[in-house]
Amino acid sequence: MGEHAAIILAAGAGTRLKSKKPKVAHEILGKPLVRWVVDAAKEAGIERIVTVVGHGRDQVVPLVEADTAIAVQEEQRGTAHAVLCALDDQSLSGFDGTIVILSGDCPLVRPETIRAMADAREASGAAAVVLTMRLADPFGYGRIIREEADAPDTADAAAAIARIVEQKDATAEEAAVCECNAGFYCFDARLLADALAQVGTDNAQGEFYLTDVIALLRASGHATIALESDDATECLGVNSRRQLAEASAIMQARINGRLMDAGVTMVAPELVWCGPDVKVARDVVLHPHVTLMGTVEIGEDTIVLPLTTLTDTRIGEGCTIGPNTRLTDTRIGNGCTVEETIALEATLDDGATAGPRAYLRPGAHLCEGAKAGTHVEIKKSTIGKGSKVPHLSYIGDTVMGEGVNIGAGSITCNYDGTSKHATTIGDRTFIGSDTMMVAPVSIADDVVVGAGSVITKDVPAGALAVARARERVYDGWVSAHREARQ
Ligand code: UD1
Ligand code: CA
Repeated sequence: MGEHAAIILAAGAGTRLKSKKPKVAHEILGKPLVRWVVDAAKEAGIERIVTVVGHGRDQVVPLVEADTAIAVQEEQRGTAHAVLCALDDQSLSGFDGTIVILSGDCPLVRPETIRAMADAREASGAAAVVLTMRLADPFGYGRIIREEADAPDTADAAAAIARIVEQKDATAEEAAVCECNAGFYCFDARLLADALAQVGTDNAQGEFYLTDVIALLRASGHATIALESDDATECLGVNSRRQLAEASAIMQARINGRLMDAGVTMVAPELVWCGPDVKVARDVVLHPHVTLMGTVEIGEDTIVLPLTTLTDTRIGEGCTIGPNTRLTDTRIGNGCTVEETIALEATLDDGATAGPRAYLRPGAHLCEGAKAGTHVEIKKSTIGKGSKVPHLSYIGDTVMGEGVNIGAGSITCNYDGTSKHATTIGDRTFIGSDTMMVAPVSIADDVVVGAGSVITKDVPAGALAVARARERVYDGWVSAHREARQ
């Protein structure tokens, strides 16, 4: 796009959420509301973005400062006042292109809509483009008033609008209009600044309304037009916890719909929650109650879907995930099975399996064909190619070779109460059940460790290590004791 800047209004309190957290910091699918809006603007190709913050700004600024300038609106005196604060920011000084205005509490706005507004303004030469929607129940929204007769020649007469009237200021006749202001706009930057300077507070709420600039622009002979949204759900504002849940469900359906279109099977899509940065491969099956958050990648082949709010979606091959699985910032190769597992910052190479009930913590790496089975916890450890940790184990700070078998109940004792220590286990080594490996300790290739051992000393290649009390058997002991007791 040409010279475009965006202003994101995010200074309001959001009192109806009844929260200590400012409204725009609340999350849908793991991403704060205001971030969805920033990302939509960026995806639409807008680089120069100013976020207007006020209420709870300590919590809002860190969410956006990496990619937007910050304008502070000390006192929330209305949307026009918020835009004025943004125009004062040095990043917009002298800017004379197109300004897109978005709301930090409307996370469902699509990048293609932002582009369509900008295109409509360029094609028509209008001073303002307002995104509108028709609602069966328009209560609460600003209403679009179209007065055809005096539409300036420059604008498409059918699209021309005369003014916007807020719910609280509307007459009964105006309130009956069901075309609403979505709260997304595109303006000629200079004309916007001129009109804003004339906005007053003579209205029911005593606020500076951004919506007043439409009538002001018209009064000075400029064209103002509507662009009707083809998907009213994208205009949903989050003003309550109910609307937060509604927005989550809409975004979930959007993301899951795209993943299914791209070849992912979802047994029950309403029970699958994928964050926006999740990349899922072709022929992956996602069972119910699967949550994929942060950067999760499943499978390899890359197909980039056309125009999405997802950054890029990778479509690869054949894993089965879930049910009851939560993966966060985790990378999974092709052909893996992950069932009832929680993984955070873990990596599974092709053909690895996890669960049921595995807990893979940061730095867990299952190499090709490796297995972390039932009630197994793995942290900061490499489980070599084809190695298996099938049952009831804790493996931490360990480098394990290939073809290793860890018997049930075996544990690396990696913590001495002060520091963490490393364990190494060589290729093809067999660790008997219920072995404690007291780190730092190194067990070489082709070792066999007897079940129930407490290994405190290094074991050389090819050795058998047994470290437990010898079994003693006393013939006839039971009956002798019973007699003695009587
Ligand atoms: C606004 C529009 C209304 C439209 C609706 C769509 C105005 C006057 N009205 O109403 O026509 O139908 O959005 O959702 O613009 N904000 C600030 N500073 C302020 C006031 C608001 O940053 O001083 C921010 C809010 O945090 C919010 C956005 O601007 O993100 C919209 O403000 P809000 O009070 O929610 O406006 P609505 O009453 O919803
Ligand atoms: Ca609102």
